[in-house]
Amino acid sequence: MSITFIEDKKAFLLETCHSSYQMQVSETGQLLHLYYGTPTHDLMDYLCVPFDVGFSPNPYEKKLTRGGSSDLLPLEYSGQNTGDFRTASVCSVREDGIWGADFRYEGHEILDGKYSIKGMPSAFDKSGSAESLKILLRDEASGLEAELLYGVFDKEDMITRAVRLRNGSDQKITLEKAGSACLDLPSGDYDLIHFHGRHTLERQAERVPVMTGIETVSSKRGASSHQQNPFVILCGKDAGEEAGECFGMMLVYSGSHRFDIEKEQTGSVRVSAGIHEEHFSWLLRPNEVFETPEVLMTFSDRGLSALSDSYHRFIRSHICKSAYMERKRPVLINSWEACYFDFDSEKILDLARRAAELGIEMLVMDDGWFGKRIDDNAGLGDWYVNEDRLPGGLAPLIGKIRDMGLKFGIWVEPEMVNEDSDLYRAHPDWALTVPGRKPSVSRNQLVLDMSRPEVVDYLYHTLHSLLADHDIAYVKWDMNRHLTDFYSRGLPPERQGEVPHRFMLGLYDLLERLTEDFPDVLFEGCSGGGGRFDAAMLRYFPQIWCSDDTDAFERLSIQEGTSYGYPISSVSAHVSAVPNHQTGRITPFGTRGLTAMQGSFGYELDLKTLTEEEKSEVRKQIADYHALYDLIQKGSYYRLTDQMGRGDHKAWEFVSRDRSQVMVSLVVTAARPCLGPIRIRLRGLLPEADYELVSRETFGCGNPLPDQRKRFTGAALMKGGYVLPEMFGSFPSCRILFKKV
Ligand code: GLA
Repeated sequence: MSITFIEDKKAFLLETCHSSYQMQVSETGQLLHLYYGTPTHDLMDYLCVPFDVGFSPNPYEKKLTRGGSSDLLPLEYSGQNTGDFRTASVCSVREDGIWGADFRYEGHEILDGKYSIKGMPSAFDKSGSAESLKILLRDEASGLEAELLYGVFDKEDMITRAVRLRNGSDQKITLEKAGSACLDLPSGDYDLIHFHGRHTLERQAERVPVMTGIETVSSKRGASSHQQNPFVILCGKDAGEEAGECFGMMLVYSGSHRFDIEKEQTGSVRVSAGIHEEHFSWLLRPNEVFETPEVLMTFSDRGLSALSDSYHRFIRSHICKSAYMERKRPVLINSWEACYFDFDSEKILDLARRAAELGIEMLVMDDGWFGKRIDDNAGLGDWYVNEDRLPGGLAPLIGKIRDMGLKFGIWVEPEMVNEDSDLYRAHPDWALTVPGRKPSVSRNQLVLDMSRPEVVDYLYHTLHSLLADHDIAYVKWDMNRHLTDFYSRGLPPERQGEVPHRFMLGLYDLLERLTEDFPDVLFEGCSGGGGRFDAAMLRYFPQIWCSDDTDAFERLSIQEGTSYGYPISSVSAHVSAVPNHQTGRITPFGTRGLTAMQGSFGYELDLKTLTEEEKSEVRKQIADYHALYDLIQKGSYYRLTDQMGRGDHKAWEFVSRDRSQVMVSLVVTAARPCLGPIRIRLRGLLPEADYELVSRETFGCGNPLPDQRKRFTGAALMKGGYVLPEMFGSFPSCRILFKKV
């Protein structure tokens, strides 16, 4: 049993292998959060000492005793306008002007299996081992009900949360904020780790102290965004990769989001997560229900590696539904950085021919194959082939590529439209624009109104035909601007605040239908690189193009940041040309290969520019990738260098789940004289076992490395480490393989 209710204490215990989560109904009926941390058999109610602080109001029942201010109590889900001045979980107003909600416990249910939420991706449980808890809270004055949903995945150390808000009154209620979860942590010194960036520099890990006041991690862009990923970690000051307490909260949502990390007047910390409340409102008629996106919460007292591993395993087995989680994914060549918009059949076939000779398994034709799309000013929306470029259509081209032994993949950007397109000319009202105002344009494109079912249906039928009529094995689903000008011609004025979230529901509906209809197609997500890299997208896309920055050096921090929350198998990474198209940097071919093998592997360059030596490197890289596929895709992943390291190299490691196969990769990121040997301490090995060095290959390294000892105990490699002699060159790298003997 992962969920227990202790009747006489009115307490709930949620237990996973390495965590306990405890709640209790107080004598006033408020639902208190008692504890989240290392498993304990104690009920931690003694921690919750009610106290009084001036100017922090008490519930009416406590007016004489003055203990238990709502402003100081650790609450599971907090209303507004009731004396809790911290960040509210939900903000609501009823037709008659009743603001806010004072939630009190009404009842609960414990169920086998995982609860589900409608219309949005959420965790599933195929094995039937999860349990769910539903706790009903109600505000007497407004009739607003909050059903708190908890899913407990014991072995995976994951607790999922979401909320069902129901209008239990006979008047309309408008939600102005609908948070997914609130976590009140006791006072202490915490750090916040979050993942920020910009286009071509996504998910840079930043660790900052939690200061008194509110720190916000958010996106108002209608997308989970390059700028701030919907994932935060709170950890103790002493927490590192291998030790220390850390808490993760990840939103399963791809739209505007907001996390507030609030350290209040007495030092306790509240983390609130959910849809961004700016440009959000939702009208609930009597009995109507609004369901929030889900949050994935995990706790580790074994440091950040264990926390990341929980997310990696959980997302792979309880979020991604694609058969490609288990099926082998082909090594691909993408036409974008090889040709950009400048291609025709001949050029694509030439790229395919060269790819086939090298052992590449799939050709992806990127942007530029449809409508009048010869640059990025026209054509989006017209998902029919440009016969000037591809005479006879897609079928003959695909046929020839298949005859070469390659699979064929295609690029689409369904949520967008150019004004210069047949679709826009036929349906100008299908774009998001505010009446009377010129819309803002980004990459000269507008956004389709996915809140309208007829737009979603049109896209479904169009894309369904494209996939049903052609032998397409892979789809790269792009989204190249953020959302503005929210106004839907399909909704009445009082529902215009629903457009951003209804857009997401429309998109999820479209993706759900298409991925169900075409389970054998490998879908890859993309949004100008990794601008929509989130757990909800991973339901449909087993891999996501991690960044439009393909520079191997830059990719090191982008992919490392991504690895804190998302599985390595979800990171799409390609070898590209040098000087790199985004930065002009030159890195060795082998270092580019090594870096791209920290994900789902491919190429993105003009193959006819390769030298004979580089061609043989490609063949070797592909052979290596196949040989190491399971280790990379399914093994445990460890960041061996963190922000506190010496800063002249980055190293990471894969260890097979049975601990018998080990691969360490290292890139020297700063060429410095007298750098000295590099000592890397391995992780995740069996301390008592012997490990043998299988191979040590260097790439772009100007000096031969002297031979070293070949056998070590796991303990020696983890505690003493492995020493790599000094490496000379510009971004040299090294791959070391060990096996258990
Ligand atoms: C986005 C993608 C690129 C490429 C272009 C095509 O920027 O991230 O990989 O597909 O669009 O327009």
